[in-house]
Amino acid sequence: MNKAKKLFIKTYGCQMNVYDSERMAEALGGQGYETTDRADQADMILLNTCHIREKAAEKVYSELGRLKPLKADNPNLKIGVAGCVAQAEGEEIMRRAPVVDLVVGPQSYHRLPQMEDAVRQGQRALDTDFPEEDKFEQLRARPKMARAPSAFLTVQEGCDKFCAFCVVPYTRGAEVSRPADRVLDEARDLVERGVREITLLGQNVNAYHGHEGGLAGLIRDLDRIEGLARIRYTTSHPNDMDDALIAAHGECEKLMPYLHLPVQSGSDRVLKAMNRKHTAQEYLRVIDRVRAARPDIMLSGDFIVGFPGETDQDFEDTLALVEAVEYGQCYSFKYSTRPGTPAAERAQVADDVATDRLRRLQALLGAQQRKIQDSMVGRDVSVLFEKPGRLPGQMSGKSEYLHAVHVHAPMGKAGEMAQVRIVESVTNSLAGVLI
Ligand code: 5AD
Ligand code: SF4
Repeated sequence: MNKAKKLFIKTYGCQMNVYDSERMAEALGGQGYETTDRADQADMILLNTCHIREKAAEKVYSELGRLKPLKADNPNLKIGVAGCVAQAEGEEIMRRAPVVDLVVGPQSYHRLPQMEDAVRQGQRALDTDFPEEDKFEQLRARPKMARAPSAFLTVQEGCDKFCAFCVVPYTRGAEVSRPADRVLDEARDLVERGVREITLLGQNVNAYHGHEGGLAGLIRDLDRIEGLARIRYTTSHPNDMDDALIAAHGECEKLMPYLHLPVQSGSDRVLKAMNRKHTAQEYLRVIDRVRAARPDIMLSGDFIVGFPGETDQDFEDTLALVEAVEYGQCYSFKYSTRPGTPAAERAQVADDVATDRLRRLQALLGAQQRKIQDSMVGRDVSVLFEKPGRLPGQMSGKSEYLHAVHVHAPMGKAGEMAQVRIVESVTNSLAGVLI
């Protein structure tokens, strides 16, 4: 038998890219590839790229520059660019970077095996189509590898919302949901391979319509899978938090008390300019209803500061919204101009102003996050063990609220769950003891 070829994938950006990288590795597994974490030993290197903010493409070109010498060392090395930069700039990449053998967009990566064949024969391959066939189905007959206790599962892709700052509707295309029976099959398969926690992924996951009961219906079916202990989902849009999904937070035991619900801004003027189609009050009302269903729920969000036209007062409104919600976790960004999106054409906020706002917002969000994390001390949580902890004899994992927890648990194995009393809150994690 031939010696396995080595595949190195570098993943940028969101969790969906993490999932896609796993699927690409599985697709190339059929071509005789095993993954490696060493680029210098690889026969194929794939950069799975993200296009959400500025300089993404530049980062890809400089990474390709760094990889170039590896090709001199190993003439058989093939280099590919995948993901959203590939989708947006495929032909440009082919033109500008002769070192690249293969460019594949996020909707075409099930075709990687054929592309790999072509590349091995000395051709260059580009595929940034939005094909008719279902890439997930094409990838089903993949080898059954054991899996870590926590896995991502893409159920929905693309976005029809067209927020004025965002490239996703262009790079990932229109909203598409996978049929529930296929998602459920994949979930059962993951559970058989050791998975206890599944995070359902979608750019707009709560717009999922592959089940007659929407995302809530899918979650209720997943809730019945024996051996599956935890369900999460991300990322959601406030306008798609329907009654059924909110009710599921109160009723489904396996649905974890954590919700990532980006609002982007607390100013109605900015929300309108962003084409978010909801007001700050409407968002807060959704949060109230979710909290009524599940009082201990941990909230997370995304914010953009310095959106074109954002005034000091608009920014104060954002701070006020953050004060009102109290987030356990948050991501905040300076607005980044994306060519081709409506907001790119508008008058931009001065960079020093945006930088200052980001600093102030992050100070507030950081303090909230800290306060909520510290308030866990003395509480009992459940921890899904994922890997050995920092110290000998420790295991680490996540609580239901997604806090990293280090536990002194000599018998603990990855995939086990335990009740843990939190005894300490340190910089980015908690420490606890078995109860
Ligand atoms: N500039 C800054 N942040 C952005 N995001 C999306 N597009 C942009 C942009 N052009 C942020 C949003 C989104 C998160 C995934 O990335 O907050 O929710
Ligand atoms: Fe982008 Fe999310 Fe808005 Fe869709 S809902 S356009 S993915 S920010």
